[in-house]
Amino acid sequence: MGRLGGITPFIVMEILEKAKELERRGRDIVHMEIGEPDLPPSPKVLEALKELKGANLGYTDSLGIWELREAIARYYWETYGVDISPERVIVTTGTSGGFSLIFSALFEVGEGIVFTDPGYPCYKNFARVYCLKPLTAKVEKETDYELTPEVLEEINQPFKGFLVTSPSNPLGNIYKRETLKALVEYAHQRGKIFISDEIYHGLNYSAPVHTALEFGDDVIVVNGFSKYFCMPGFRLGWVVVPQRFVKPLRLVVQNLFISPPTPSQLLALKALEDRQYLREVRETFRKRRDYLYGELKKLFDIPVEPQGAFYIWANVGRYAKSGYEFSLKLLEEVGVATTPGVDFGNNNTQSFVRFSYTSRLERLREGVRRIKLFLERLKI
Ligand SMILES: Cc1ncc(COP(=O)(O)O)c(C=O)c1O
Repeated sequence: MGRLGGITPFIVMEILEKAKELERRGRDIVHMEIGEPDLPPSPKVLEALKELKGANLGYTDSLGIWELREAIARYYWETYGVDISPERVIVTTGTSGGFSLIFSALFEVGEGIVFTDPGYPCYKNFARVYCLKPLTAKVEKETDYELTPEVLEEINQPFKGFLVTSPSNPLGNIYKRETLKALVEYAHQRGKIFISDEIYHGLNYSAPVHTALEFGDDVIVVNGFSKYFCMPGFRLGWVVVPQRFVKPLRLVVQNLFISPPTPSQLLALKALEDRQYLREVRETFRKRRDYLYGELKKLFDIPVEPQGAFYIWANVGRYAKSGYEFSLKLLEEVGVATTPGVDFGNNNTQSFVRFSYTSRLERLREGVRRIKLFLERLKI
């Protein structure tokens, strides 16, 4: 099995398979487990898709089409007032391609990298594939589920870098400006690599989002087109890196990936232009968040207000021995699919479930109706 032996499976796959089996047997399933937007890309993207016929679809520059790198740099200026050179933007095959690139090129075998628990489960698996040592920092309600320099100081093993996700998956919380600033300063002073995963930026509803780039250049920002831009299948992301990393990273891209997907790059240019559509996407998810959070907080203990992304992290401990058991029964009995908390780590995740609002409002309403029915039955 080699290094793959260390990779952890997703428990939610079991739930998904079960959901599919039930659907094959004719059951109607409300999907609240899915982590990708159900909305289509901008109409401008879909229009341009039809016109790709005449385009040059060969390899591009390893770091991406220059116009796209410029457009991304401009996006930072227009969205955050941050001036970055397009030279520092590297277009990647999804943010997943970005993690592959950074973990393989900027870390030595065996070096430590810190991730939060709970957190997005793939990070540690990327680290394992590239023979790094994943270390976990527990994030708690008392510190608003944020990784802070103080939490990092308590890690009693050496580490070269750390990663933060804001808005976060699975919690939906958004890091405070001061925390991000403190982390950028900490990394700079201690010579650590700070990776800021900003893939859910734009999907923020009740708090502003700040890019770590606002607080200095010595940080790696990862972002992409899979969430806010509603283009998950286009497999396109980007990283913004300090200038000194551009050359070594180019070398790795040339060998591992050659270049990011060309049709997707051409279409991403259109996605960045259509700001009106992006505003509509945010509004759609905001309405869903308001509805679902309003309903679920009457039923479960939700320790952190979901301010962004499309997830709600709920404690179901009152109703079941574990989040896993709750998810499984909820699916079998009333046909609502959710993700058990244990998929996101070991730190107090056992009794949690992640609800996604990546379905239409009518479906969320139906989901809530069924959840209430399920809880009613539990009381009997
Ligand atoms: C926090 C986070 N980062 C990164 C990704 C990977 O996204 P992609 O490779 O599609 O850009 C995901 C996907 O769910 C995610 O939740």
